[in-house]
Amino acid sequence: MTSVVVQVLRRLTKSERWQLGGIVGLIFLGMILEMLSLSLILPLVGLVTREDYSIATISWLPQVVKEFDQAHLLQIALGAFVGLYAFKSTFLLWSNWIQKSFSARLSTRFSDELFDVYINQPYNYYLNTNSSSLIRKSQNSGIFVGGVIDPSLSLLTDGSVAVALAILLIAVEPLGTVLVLTTFVAATLAFQRFTKRRIRHWGAEKNRLGELQLKILQQSLGGIRDVTLYGRQNFFREAYFKQIFDNAMITRKFDTVLIMPRLWLELITVSSLFLAVVVMNAQDRSLSEIGVALTLYAGAAFRVMPSVNRLVAAFQNLAFSRHLVKEIGDDLELVKMAKGSDAPPIKLNSGIRIDRVSFRYGPDLPWVLHECSAVFRKGRTIGIIGSSGSGKSTLVDLLLGFLDPTKGRIFVDEQDVRHVRISWMKSVGYVPQEIFLLDDTIEANVAFGVDTDFVDRLRVVEALNQARLGDFVFNLGNGLETVIGERGVRMSGGQRQRLGIARALYANPDVLLFDEATSSLDSQTEKELMSEISELGRTRTTIQIAHRLETIRNCDDIFRISDGVIALLNKNERLEVFGPTKSENGQ
Ligand SMILES: Nc1ncnc2c1ncn2[C@@H]1O[C@H](COP(=O)(O)OP(=O)(O)O)[C@@H](O)[C@H]1O
Ligand SMILES: [Mg+2]
Repeated sequence: MTSVVVQVLRRLTKSERWQLGGIVGLIFLGMILEMLSLSLILPLVGLVTREDYSIATISWLPQVVKEFDQAHLLQIALGAFVGLYAFKSTFLLWSNWIQKSFSARLSTRFSDELFDVYINQPYNYYLNTNSSSLIRKSQNSGIFVGGVIDPSLSLLTDGSVAVALAILLIAVEPLGTVLVLTTFVAATLAFQRFTKRRIRHWGAEKNRLGELQLKILQQSLGGIRDVTLYGRQNFFREAYFKQIFDNAMITRKFDTVLIMPRLWLELITVSSLFLAVVVMNAQDRSLSEIGVALTLYAGAAFRVMPSVNRLVAAFQNLAFSRHLVKEIGDDLELVKMAKGSDAPPIKLNSGIRIDRVSFRYGPDLPWVLHECSAVFRKGRTIGIIGSSGSGKSTLVDLLLGFLDPTKGRIFVDEQDVRHVRISWMKSVGYVPQEIFLLDDTIEANVAFGVDTDFVDRLRVVEALNQARLGDFVFNLGNGLETVIGERGVRMSGGQRQRLGIARALYANPDVLLFDEATSSLDSQTEKELMSEISELGRTRTTIQIAHRLETIRNCDDIFRISDGVIALLNKNERLEVFGPTKSENGQ
C-alpha cells in the first residue's frame, strides 16, 4: 500500500506537495472544530436541563460572566453554540472546496501528461500496443487522485479521528477502550491480510476486462459492415456479454468486501462482549459491575467503529487501485519523442539516398528488406513496383522516418533521416493506402489538425482542385463545411483517397509520397490527377508506389522491390515490364 502512495507522492511537484500539506492542515483544523463543537454539547445540555448548573467554579471565566443569571447565560451559550456551528460548517465547506480544487487540478495534470506521453511515442510503440489499452488507461488516469490521494487523505482524516476518539475515550473509560482498540486492531489486521491479495487481483482483472470491452466495442462497431454482412452480431454480443458479466461479478465481490468490515467488526464486538461476560462471571464479579463495564465497552466500540470502517475502506481502495497506478506510473516514465513544432521543413537539394538498408520488424521476425541501396534524385518522379507483401510500405515508413533501418542508413541530402526526423516529416506530403479521415468538415480534413482560424482557405481550395475533388465539393450544399461522417462514411472510396491527396498537397510539400494512393480511382481520374501533379513543378520530388503499372509508366525512374532487394529497372527491363510505349510503338 505504501508503495502506491509513495509512487504518487513522488510525482507531485514541490508546490503541489506544499498544497497537499496545507490541505492536511485544513483537515486537522476541521477535525479540531468538529471535536470542539461535539464537546460543547454536554455542558450545554447541562445548562438547559439542570437547575443547579453553575459556572461559578470555572476559575478562568471573568467575574462579569460568572454573575450572569441562568436565562441570560443560556441565551449567550446558545448564541455562541450556533455561531460555532455556523463557523464550523462554513469552514468545512470551504476546506472541502479547496480539497476538491486541488484534486481536480492534479487529476487534470496527470491526465494531460499521460496523453502527452501516449501521443508522442515513436511509431514502433503503436505497432506493438493496442489502442484499447491506451484508451482505457487514458480514461482512468483519474486513479492517481481518486484511487490514491483521496483514500490517503481519508486515511489521515479517519485515522486522526480514530486516534482523537481513542484518547477521549481512554480518558473517560480506559479499560473498555483499551480492550476495544486491541480487538479492533487485531480484527482489522486479520481482515486486511485476508482480503488484500484478492482485492489487488480484482483490480488487475477489472482493468483487463475494461480493456477487453473497449476492444470488442471498437472491433464490432468499427467493422459493422462485416459484422452485418456475415451475420456475426451474436459472436460479438456473446464476447461482450461474457466480459460485462465477469466485470459485474468482480464488482459484486468487491462491493461485498467493502461492507464486510462493518459487519465483521460488529460481530467481533458482540463476541468479545460475550467473552467478557463469561470471564467476569467466572471471576464472580457482581452483576452491576459487569453491567457498567459492558456499557462502557459497547459505547466505546460503537463510537470508534465508523472511523475504523472508513479506514479499512480506504485501505481497500488503495489495494484496488494498485495495479492501474503502477501501469500508468510506468507509462508516465516512457520517453517521449523529441518535440519540434518549431523545426522548419527541409528544402531538398540533391535527393534521398538509401545506403545498404536492411530491415526487420523484430529480432525474431524475418528480414523484409536486405541490403537495399538506391538514390532518389531531386525533381524526379520515381515509381516503385513490387508484389504485395514485398516491403513497399515498409520502405515508405523507413523513408518517412516512422521506422529506423535495422542496418544501414537513409540520407536526406547528406543528413541521416534519424537526425532530422521532425523537419523531414514536415517536408513530405504523404498519401497512405488507407486514408484516415476525421468526422469533421472537408476543410478540417484537408488542413488536418489546424485550428479553423488559421486555415488558409485558398490553399484548401487549390489542393482540392489539384486532387480533382473541387467540383465534387462545390456541388455539395455546404461546400467546404460539409461534414463527412466517421472515417468519411459519406464519401466514396475514390473521394476519400482524393481527400487524402488534397491533405498531402495542402502544405505544398517539396516531396510527395504516394503509397498505392490512387488504387480506388478510375483510370481516367487517375491520369488527370497524375498529369496535374507532374505539372506542379519540376522542383518537386514525387515517389509513387503503384498498384497499376499504368500509373507509373511515365515516371523518370522505376524501381522494383523483390526478395527484399530494390533495383532500378534499366531500359530493357522497363520494356519487359510495361511493354513498348505508344511512341516507341510508332517507330
Ligand atoms: N508491423 C509489422 N510487424 C511485423 N511484420 C510486418 C509489419 N508490417 C508489415 N509486416 C510484414 O512485412 C512484409 C512487408 O509488408 P509491406 O511493406 O506492408 O508490404 P507491401 O509491399 O504490400 O506494402 C510483409 O510480409 C508483412 O507481413
Ligand atoms: Mg503496402
